Amino acid sequence: MPILDDSTAFCPFGPKPNRDSLLDYSIGQTLSTGMLIPADRFRRRIPTQQMIAMCGIAACALKNGEVGPVLYDCLKRLEYRGYDSVGVASVVNGKIVVKKDKGKIEEVEHELRISDLPGRVGIGHTRWATHGAPSQENAHPHTDCGSTVAVVHNGIIENFMKLRQELEAQGHIFKSRTDTEVVAHLVEEHLRNGMGFVEAVRVAVKKLVGAYALALICASEPDKVVCVRKESPLVVGTSPSGNYCASDIPAFLSRTNRVILLEDDEMAVLTADKVRLIQIDDGEELFRDPFTVEWSVETALKTGFPHFMLKEINEQPSSVRNALRTQPIYLDLMASALNKAKKIFFVACGTSHHACLAAAYVFSNLAKIEVTPVVASEFIDSFGAIVDQDTVVVAVSQSGETADTLSAVRGAKNRGATILGISNTMGSTLPRLSDVYIGQNSGPEMGVAATKTFTAQLSVLLKVAVALARKREVVGKNDLAAIEAGFNQLPDWISILLSTQRERVGSIVEKYSDRPSFCFLGRGISVATALEGRLKLLELSYLPAIAYPAGESKHGFISVVEQGYPVIFAAPKDECYSKIIGNVMEMKARGAQIISIVDEKDGDVAKLSDETIIVPSGIPSMLSPIVYILPLQLFAYSMSVRKGHDPDFPRNLAKSVTVH
Ligand code: AGP
Repeated sequence: MPILDDSTAFCPFGPKPNRDSLLDYSIGQTLSTGMLIPADRFRRRIPTQQMIAMCGIAACALKNGEVGPVLYDCLKRLEYRGYDSVGVASVVNGKIVVKKDKGKIEEVEHELRISDLPGRVGIGHTRWATHGAPSQENAHPHTDCGSTVAVVHNGIIENFMKLRQELEAQGHIFKSRTDTEVVAHLVEEHLRNGMGFVEAVRVAVKKLVGAYALALICASEPDKVVCVRKESPLVVGTSPSGNYCASDIPAFLSRTNRVILLEDDEMAVLTADKVRLIQIDDGEELFRDPFTVEWSVETALKTGFPHFMLKEINEQPSSVRNALRTQPIYLDLMASALNKAKKIFFVACGTSHHACLAAAYVFSNLAKIEVTPVVASEFIDSFGAIVDQDTVVVAVSQSGETADTLSAVRGAKNRGATILGISNTMGSTLPRLSDVYIGQNSGPEMGVAATKTFTAQLSVLLKVAVALARKREVVGKNDLAAIEAGFNQLPDWISILLSTQRERVGSIVEKYSDRPSFCFLGRGISVATALEGRLKLLELSYLPAIAYPAGESKHGFISVVEQGYPVIFAAPKDECYSKIIGNVMEMKARGAQIISIVDEKDGDVAKLSDETIIVPSGIPSMLSPIVYILPLQLFAYSMSVRKGHDPDFPRNLAKSVTVH
């Protein structure tokens, strides 16, 4: 059973490094809120995109030896969380020493020898940015005006702009464009007012809004590391030779398997021989015994899950929450571009295409605007002739490097189209080709089969649809409020489904794993859910699976149906529900075995089904694919394991398809 709730905070990002003229600030890691688009490219200047990063932080307070080799080793084990810039800091002879730069850990080690960092206490950071070129300036650790405090951070400080302006008004000079740096200056302010280091941190973080895991050191109290947790993951490791904290256990597991979990709104003070836990709110001391982790590093990287795919499926409450955090200004920028367009295409491949299909349904039904979702490899051949200045292409790619999507984008750009990009990978090509783009905040996805990146990119697309509907004033206030409420409940609905239906799905797989083929059916927005469910089963179990719009199934597929043929229905209680009942009965009449994903208050479809998987009630229909896809991700995962395949690295597939 996984220990860590990996509600890592993240962020999105700005493309082209040459844009520091505009409002250039950074969230989490690097943050850029603005980029100039050549006026002729777009009818008005468009700030690019907000950014967030997912990263690994580590810190230690040692009895003996130097922190350099320890921090280097910890960061190497956190590299899977992010690898575009690295930095460490320690206190030596009463001074803060910082070594940081952009690049992979090995590259920076080669240049700066971070493993040679002296000192007994130290902090380190490795970054994952999904947007905007890494820079030495924005790499962590960050320090205050007098270099008396250094801080590393993973997460998002949503109110950093306001705090920065207040601190600048008090005379603080900022060196980076990160949100993180405000923490160093806030602590500095309280130190100046005579507070001790620990208290200065406690008071400072009470001003922060967002998600953050922090580790700080201070020149005037060189024996301490102060760590703080709010939503982003942070664990403490304790041992007779020293104490540690890190974004997750693999970082220090080779040194100790004695772990203390930090809860939200708690801080830990590490010295070489002691760990103190403090409640941030009132400064109360807390006591919590360490527990022993019996994991290998390999297992720990998967935080106790047997495969990355299952870990990533279970990360969706937090990756969806982070996607929904996309700042309104950037949603509005995309909505403005779409509102001006005469033709709009959603271009992507595979799972990203299915997110576009579901989103297109919402753009027409909610924002009352026509969108054409197209598989990228067909785009230019099918629509190149009508793409022009008045065309907007929304390109979606988690890797940002899929060759078919990139060539569709280049073809459209050459015809004068405006490109809006949604990606998960910093510095990838799609963000650089985009006029405006949004990072989907999912963090690295190790499993080849896209899971958390599907629900995150669809969440972002639906947020854009709502911003567009609001701009076009085509939806009533109550409906908008209901949708916003639905967005806020999504992470909980996902958690409920994952915790209540996992075994149920496993037992259905057990029962049907001998079937040579499956068919997935859905109507309306659930056509996308059915297609994505089918893709997951295909790529992971290697079974020839079929998917159809349910209404279309009687125009061909139904001839395949015979006694015992398994048909899986995604059947939310939405505007298409009454019609899907008829389709279930058509299949049943030919002997099909019906496996249905239904609302907990469902009656009719459940009664007709041989197996049901229950989804919490009250999910607005436009959000249903984000929840109804989960049982199908679990179904494909369990079938792959049952058939002895590797669900993380299925045959013949690559995480990013960079060939045509
Ligand atoms: C999905 O599980 C597959 N890995 C594949 O279909 C993928 O969605 C497709 O290659 C697109 O990748 P992208 O989002 O990185 O562009």
